[in-house]
Amino acid sequence: MASASPQRRVCVTGGGGFIASWLVKLLLSRGYAVHATLRNPCDPKNAHLKQLDGASENLHLFKADVLDCDALARAVEGCEGLFHLATPVPEDKVVNPEASIYSFDANMPLEVLGPAVKGTINVLKICSIMKVQKVVVMSSNAAVTSNPNWPEDKRKDESCWSDKEFCKQKEDWYSVAKIAAEQEAWQYADKKGLNVVTLCPPYVFGPMLQPTANASSKILIYIIKGGSDVMNNRMWDMVDVRDVADALLLVYEKKESSGRYICSSNRISTRDLVDLLRKMYPKYSYINNIDDAEHKAPVTSQKLRDLGWEPRKLEETLMDSVECYQKAGLLDIHANPCRLPFLVRAWQVNP
Ligand SMILES: NC(=O)c1ccc[n+]([C@@H]2O[C@H](COP(=O)([O-])OP(=O)(O)OC[C@H]3O[C@@H](n4cnc5c(N)ncnc54)[C@H](OP(=O)(O)O)[C@@H]3O)[C@@H](O)[C@H]2O)c1
Repeated sequence: MASASPQRRVCVTGGGGFIASWLVKLLLSRGYAVHATLRNPCDPKNAHLKQLDGASENLHLFKADVLDCDALARAVEGCEGLFHLATPVPEDKVVNPEASIYSFDANMPLEVLGPAVKGTINVLKICSIMKVQKVVVMSSNAAVTSNPNWPEDKRKDESCWSDKEFCKQKEDWYSVAKIAAEQEAWQYADKKGLNVVTLCPPYVFGPMLQPTANASSKILIYIIKGGSDVMNNRMWDMVDVRDVADALLLVYEKKESSGRYICSSNRISTRDLVDLLRKMYPKYSYINNIDDAEHKAPVTSQKLRDLGWEPRKLEETLMDSVECYQKAGLLDIHANPCRLPFLVRAWQVNP
């Protein structure tokens, strides 16, 4: 008689976040046992995890900051794979230019760089010690597309890297952190022979499982509600959060996956996005101060599609996002006026 195959066990860092929550949900639905790390498992903002189907049997929550190696080790123990998503995604301009205690760059703000870069190194070190078989590191288009030297007429593929100095000039410390974290991950993987794959999504939208809006959802909320910040009429590469969760699991499960994967499904200009949303939901104000800007070369996700990734259509993402925001009261006229998150403002021409 064939014996039942043992249950697969994986760890997800930052398990309560926007994308990680969808990944945890997907993993549970596929029968995985999941160790999710959270900085504060008792915080009500993480309560949604316990409501997921299969959570009572197969979801285990671990209190762990990515700067705490002992706590990380407890969470990773017994896992065959790990998805590293924990990274600060700041909504506002990072204002702490204190000298970093970390050696890689003394001039970078600690609050993002520490957890993003040192946190990634810590996670990878623990994975090596614990003999984790495969690690999927969540990078970003922020580490791919901000490259002023890339030819304007050439699609950006996985060989394109953002220019760290260029991002520093814009004081976009989030992008600097994502570039540095992914570079460190590759150096570590090469040196130690760890099986690492990275995923690079652009702006991620879609319905939220968590109760409070994350930074990328606030961009779409700002576009719908309007506000005082000017937006450029530029091209947006975007992807649905559920398709990102699918992509994370796909690159994890496919034995042949290797290297970086751009994970982008739709490209639309700011004006076309507003027109499309207005047609679907005419009652909102929408941004009306849109400034023209250059359109940059698009990205290609062909490598991920060749692996079998089939993302959904933009309309579905927008519809499910708006319905989720409506239910949460985030589009109410009387809800707090919102600002465009700094990760977009940093790149505005004539802000
Ligand atoms: N959303 C996007 O458009 C997008 C696009 C490309 C890539 N990404 C990447 O996807 C990942 C998840 O982003 P998200 O959009 O889902 O953001 P999110 O909802 O803000 O999730 C980020 C998570 O990181 C955790 N975290 C922050 N600092 C930490 C630390 N020192 N130790 C442990 N955990 C820490 C946060 O936990 P707390 O709740 O404790 O703060 C939070 O759960 C990030 O790596 C981000 O760079 C996002």
